[in-house]
Amino acid sequence: MFLTYRRFRRCPCVQLITTCLVLSAVMVCWEQLDANVVSHVKSYSFRYLVNSFSSMNRSLTIPREQARRFSDFPYLLDHPDKCVGKDVLLLLFVKSSPENIERRNAIRSTWGNETYIQNNLGVTVKVVFALGAIQTKTDEPSWSRRSGVGFQDQLIKEDHLYGDLIQKNFLDSFHNLTLKLILQFHWMHSRCAHARFFMTADDDIFVHMPNLVGYLQDISSRGVTDFWIGRVHRGSPPVRSKHSKYYVSSEMYQWFSYPDYTAGAGYVISGDVADKIHQATLTLNASLHIDDVFMGICANSIGVSPQEHAYFSGEGKAPYHPCIYNQMMTSHGHVEDIYELWKTVIDLRVKQKTSGLFSRLYCTAMKIALLCRPQFFNTYPCKAAFL
Ligand SMILES: *[C@@H]1O[C@H](CO)[C@@H](O)[C@H](O)[C@H]1NC(C)=O
Ligand SMILES: *[C@@H]1O[C@H](CO)[C@@H](O)[C@H](O)[C@H]1NC(C)=O
Ligand SMILES: *[C@@H]1O[C@H](CO)[C@@H](O)[C@H](O)[C@H]1NC(C)=O
Ligand SMILES: *[C@@H]1O[C@H](CO)[C@@H](O)[C@H](O)[C@H]1NC(C)=O
Repeated sequence: MFLTYRRFRRCPCVQLITTCLVLSAVMVCWEQLDANVVSHVKSYSFRYLVNSFSSMNRSLTIPREQARRFSDFPYLLDHPDKCVGKDVLLLLFVKSSPENIERRNAIRSTWGNETYIQNNLGVTVKVVFALGAIQTKTDEPSWSRRSGVGFQDQLIKEDHLYGDLIQKNFLDSFHNLTLKLILQFHWMHSRCAHARFFMTADDDIFVHMPNLVGYLQDISSRGVTDFWIGRVHRGSPPVRSKHSKYYVSSEMYQWFSYPDYTAGAGYVISGDVADKIHQATLTLNASLHIDDVFMGICANSIGVSPQEHAYFSGEGKAPYHPCIYNQMMTSHGHVEDIYELWKTVIDLRVKQKTSGLFSRLYCTAMKIALLCRPQFFNTYPCKAAFL
């Protein structure tokens, strides 16, 4: 050991080569390192030490006339009377794309069935779908333009049948999700302002409606305001890699960290927050296309911060287990299994009445086993096992 060290010292060229190797390794991996380590260090420092999100509010504020271009798209499908005369506990917007009719049907006949909710849970929940318009490029061959028109006809038929599509005339695309978010707040403000809670969710989410309704009734009876709950992201850095669909240039967003926000997969706010957010959208630059981050920017401007709920999933999918269903609120990434899951969940609800101390202990042990081990897939955090 000593010998090799001495030999190493004696030959400076070895030192030089080693240094060069290390340096070039760092340079080769720099992009990765920058994306995964450096950006997080910067972002946490910004979030926890600098915390100058108020300057952000100032520089993203624009004149109302200019902000209007994010919201003044005309409605293609609308239901102005949806909430009239009803005591709406929850207005739930599902962000859907025109072509996802199967997903909408699955939601309508499972957790989003308003009749079931009314009859079995005794509250009014309104489930509506937010859509943009279908692309009809004029430079495409005429057959595909025709099919675009035909597609809108299909949507109109679907809407006649169910009366739950809210569509505005902007192109339905990933990069227009913020326009879709603004649509939702705009619609609530003008058509359903008295709803006690507002929720927005992806169309591949499973919502445990009985659990959610029970929880919101409880919160509502305590008269909470400034309420915002979901899976919280704190100190997330903007993605600066051009290959990512979440890429955001520093012209678009110049700071090292996003304000706190909840994962767009599904979160709930109280009616007063929805109204204030709507006001905020009237004077903010909504060019940032990541809708949940934009929600964070709006909330930051009105001084509302999100709370974490362990059983709201972000990108994560809940493990399939009755002990989990007891407490789950949302779970992400369900399409084919949604019917099966809903059947299990409402069957269990009936049986659950007889649960006692023993089953509670059993469930805690089960949940620890399911949630508190190194995960191969993203799910609820370990602390959820102890709630
Ligand atoms: C919704 O639930 C009601 C009552 O439980 C049921 O009659 C109806 O068929 C359901 N709707 C759909 C679309 O499954
Ligand atoms: C967003 O929608 C507008 C209006 O339809 C459209 O002009 C624009 O190209 C869309 N943007 C993206 C990125 O899809
Ligand atoms: C809004 O932000 C975009 C992207 O950063 C920028 O190009 C645009 O000029 C801004 N709009 C206004 C009205 O300042
Ligand atoms: C953000 O800007 C708006 C408009 O200028 C202002 O009304 C609001 O109070 C600001 N919010 C914060 C937290 O500074």
